[in-house]
Amino acid sequence: MPKRGNAGKLHRNDTPEGTNMLSEQQIQQLIDAAIEARHHAYIPYSSFAVGAAVLTRDGNTIRGCNVENASYGLCNCAERTAIFSAVAQGQRQFAAVAVAADTSEPVSPCGACRQVLAEFCDADTAILLANLSGEVRECTINELLPGAFAARDMTP
Ligand code: THU
Repeated sequence: MPKRGNAGKLHRNDTPEGTNMLSEQQIQQLIDAAIEARHHAYIPYSSFAVGAAVLTRDGNTIRGCNVENASYGLCNCAERTAIFSAVAQGQRQFAAVAVAADTSEPVSPCGACRQVLAEFCDADTAILLANLSGEVRECTINELLPGAFAARDMTP
């Protein structure tokens, strides 16, 4: 996966083939929105705050955070909160998705979130994985979940 250096210092050569061309400012704003969204995380059990933000094709930013539950299996990840919020607001076309957490490497989305991302991300949707040290990894859904189960798999 291509790695971006410090946030704000983005190398377009590192852009994965197939991702749409977002400006460095758009990318940084989306990552900042994901970092900010962490402040709303409801994390009494893990204390691990994750934030996410989606940029819709028409330019809206919708945030999400992880929301935990005493019945642990019901915890909802930040990525899914952001995507489900966007869908609930009538938005399904995403130019980019950012996820941020306080991790040593850019945060890695869980398998369930990868499958949900696969439902709504196109081959050119930029997926930006970030940490709080300014490291950003840009990738596509195909890189995150090759062979994702999709609607086409339900046709005989
Ligand atoms: N978490 C996310 O929000 N996104 C991920 O992709 C990985 C995990 C959350 C779920 C739970 O609230 C906490 O991080 C610890 O697993």
